[in-house]
Parts: sequence; C-alpha cells; structure tokens
Amino acid sequence: MVGPRPLTPDAGGDPACWANRVCPECGAFSADGYHRHGCPVAAGSEGMVASIEAVKADITELAVDAVVNAANSALAMGGGVDGAIHRAAGVRDLTAACAALGGCATGDAKATPGFALPARWIIHAVGPVWHGGDHGEAELLASCYRRSVEVADEIGARSVAFPAISTGVYGFPGDLAAEIAVGTLQDLETSVERVLLVAFDDHTLDRYQRLLRHPGPR
Ligand code: APR
Repeated sequence: MVGPRPLTPDAGGDPACWANRVCPECGAFSADGYHRHGCPVAAGSEGMVASIEAVKADITELAVDAVVNAANSALAMGGGVDGAIHRAAGVRDLTAACAALGGCATGDAKATPGFALPARWIIHAVGPVWHGGDHGEAELLASCYRRSVEVADEIGARSVAFPAISTGVYGFPGDLAAEIAVGTLQDLETSVERVLLVAFDDHTLDRYQRLLRHPGPR
C-alpha cells in the first residue's frame, strides 16, 4: 500500500504541532501531518492480520503500538475504558490532544499519542449506542474496527489492542459485538500484524476464544 504515513508526532508535544509539517524523508509539505504523495517509504506489505488473540487484561497496561479507545463522538473523557485510558495516559495531555481533533463521527476513528501509556498511540473509535439493532448498529460497529485498522496503517502501528467497543455503557449485546469484531478483523487487508482482543471479564474472554477457535467463512 502506498498510503498516508505519519510524520512521527512528538508524543508529549503540542498536538497542534502535528499538522503543517514538512516530510523529513522526502521534503513534501503535509497539511495534516501525514504523507499522501506516494513517497516510496510509505509502502507497506499488506495481507490479513497474522495473529488475532484474545486476552483478559487492563488495556492501559499493554505494551502494543496502539490501543483502541471506546470513545464518544465529542472525544471528551468519559467512564469505562475511556476514563481508564485518560487517567493512565494523563488527563491533561490526552484531553488537549482529543480537543484538537474536533470530534469523531460514530463508526469512525482518530489517533492521538499515547502519552504516559506503554502504547505509543491511542486510536479513539466511536462505537454506536445500541437502540435495538435496527439503526445500523452492526454496520457502525464493524466500521469502528475497520476504521481503527485503517488508522493503525496510517500511523504505522503493527500491534493493536481493542477493547469490546460499545458493550459497556453503550449497551451493545456482547455476543453479537464479539462476532462483529472477530469477523471484521479476520477479513481486513492491512499491514497490522497482531491484534489483541482485550476482555475485561471471563465471559467476554470466553466469547472471543470460542469465535477464534471456530472462525467463520472468509
Ligand atoms: N481495559 C479493557 N477493557 C475495559 C477496561 C479496561 N481498563 N475498562 C472497561 N473495559 C471494558 C468494559 O468491560 C466493556 O466490555 O470495555 C468495554 C467497553 O465499555 P465502555 O468503556 O463502557 O465503552 P462503550 O460501551 O463503548 O461506551 C462508550 O462510555 O465512558 C464512556 O466516553 C465513553 O461515552 C463513551 C461510552
């Protein structure tokens, strides 16, 4: 893939400084901090995700390239995994970085640095609120996983950890959410090599493990 490539924002720096930078590798100007000009160094090898694993863990403790946050569309600090990620990353730094992104639509995802987290990046994905299933919830949740992996490709993350997006405060049924997560991730063309599906309880872990043992058709 020749796609956008990050200009290595300075974790801990002013998020406003990510934009309007010159590519250090080829000298091209980039208005949003990413290569979009076919610079050969942007080429990555794409295939399916080589490894998808389920783990029971606190996602804030994982030393992966990027952790995904179950965010809201304002990208304002909330509870659940979002609150935990903000506290572990540093509320002030992460709040400022999120504010500079100007919100995020449901089904979409945007990245910030990980600040004090072991992970270098946080990909903020906005899952749907469950309204009974007839309001495009499944498609929007699948879109969260797809967009998060696209953003991971843009920032060069090769290992990505996902929480069970939408299954907490947003009320998405856990079984269906797990099927969508696994099914979507197994079908993507990406340079991401390793995905961790992070369960916060045994029931969610068991769900992921069953699905990963019996993958659906590709
Ligand atoms: N590590 C891993 N998983 C966690 C952690 C953690 N530290 N904390 C919570 N979880 C799990 C929950 O058990 C749940 O399965 O993350 C899943 C998602 O739950 P929520 O955090 O409630 O996320 P969601 O349902 O997508 O709701 C998003 O909640 O806090 C707000 O700002 C957030 O408005 C947004 C909404």
